[in-house]
Amino acid sequence: MLTPLPASLYVHYPFCVRKCPYCDFFSNPQGACRSRDIRYARALCEDFDSNLPWLNGRKHQSVYLGGGTPSLCDPDVVGMLISHIRPYLARGCEISMEANPGTTDRQRLEGYRKAGVSRLSLGVQSFDDRMLKALGRIHSAAQAQKAVEDALDAGFSNINLDIMHGLPGQDPQMALSDLKQACSYPITHLSWYELTLEEGTRFGDHPPMLPCDDDLQAIEDHGFAFLASCGFERYEVSAFARNGIKCLHNCNYWLFGDYLGIGAGASGKVFTGGRTLRRACPEDPQAFVEGRRGEYQEVPSQEIPFEYMLNRLRLYGDIGAAEYEKATGLPFETIRAGLEEASRMNCVELEGRTFRLTAFGRLMLNDVLELFLSEAPSHQIDHREDQDRQGSEGRNGRGA
Ligand SMILES: C[S@@+](CC[C@H](N)C(=O)[O-])C[C@H]1O[C@@H](n2cnc3c(N)ncnc32)[C@H](O)[C@@H]1O
Ligand code: SF4
Repeated sequence: MLTPLPASLYVHYPFCVRKCPYCDFFSNPQGACRSRDIRYARALCEDFDSNLPWLNGRKHQSVYLGGGTPSLCDPDVVGMLISHIRPYLARGCEISMEANPGTTDRQRLEGYRKAGVSRLSLGVQSFDDRMLKALGRIHSAAQAQKAVEDALDAGFSNINLDIMHGLPGQDPQMALSDLKQACSYPITHLSWYELTLEEGTRFGDHPPMLPCDDDLQAIEDHGFAFLASCGFERYEVSAFARNGIKCLHNCNYWLFGDYLGIGAGASGKVFTGGRTLRRACPEDPQAFVEGRRGEYQEVPSQEIPFEYMLNRLRLYGDIGAAEYEKATGLPFETIRAGLEEASRMNCVELEGRTFRLTAFGRLMLNDVLELFLSEAPSHQIDHREDQDRQGSEGRNGRGA
């Protein structure tokens, strides 16, 4: 019998102090509210319990508390949730939590660590006040620096920083200076996202002036070289790990593993009895608290090859037929024609039953993905990591 896929847990916290003009993650601008958070955390526990049968006895390898701004939630409330799920976590389970530097101090961060959070992801975005202002962030550069120092003082040894580039008014020197500051800290991970203008956001409706293509290219070229010189390995579109310390949680999405998704706007995916099922919780915190949380629905098998590739091609390295067959329950033949075509386009190297994306293929990712689309008209290509809000680190992207 095949060993089951690894399972992870995504928890969505849907509140922020205010909405950043570039952000299309689901969140309501409501600020901190302890009584609301206690009600929400109770609903999370209840929903977690009702999802347990999908695990079939598996323990979670990783947990990700994303948002929104989970650091608005008091440490004891986060602790209550972690204690509740603890019996279902594997030994050494990675527990990541996102934090916004405008909402943290040392004591609070220490509280999260004591509550069980083992990996902190700080939404720094930039260490330049001009950039933070252009992004509508609630914190200053000094607060961003302090948040990193507080996290280190609080005892976190596994820290990710989210940094964005290609920002309005940013030149290559400014982008590099953000990376220099980030890499001066003993962090394990960096998510380096190019700003994308998303439909339905303020920036999407009123696009700011972005750096020209030559500058964007220079930012990337210098940035990638600098990160490599600091020992950061690029293992995904926008994720960089030092000393091999990757984000296990995001890797599980990209490997097409299983995950439960709880909270308003969260989605989950489970492979059971040869079928892939998905559930998307409505983007409505009140509905979530009242128990209206959506149903699992089968993903039609003709859509699976595309979904698999959308996730799996984000990670660099070899992909074997057995891995595809195990994660999808489908024979390798369902992607062979697409791979052969991608190979003719020099986008993929195909050797027998193993394949990998080429450097050219990375640039042509949308064209490659199109080869795996079914005839069904419902598909849209959006290969950002969290098109279904699995976790924040990792977009096309944003990420860990
Ligand atoms: C849910 S947020 C992170 C945590 C927290 N809410 C915060 O902002 O500090 C996830 C990350 O996605 C990135 N991000 C969000 N919108 C983006 C966009 N339009 N383009 C590029 N990166 C984006 C940011 O780096 C952000 O930190
Ligand atoms: S970027 Fe973070 S803080 Fe800003 S609106 Fe999105 S989730 Fe909230």
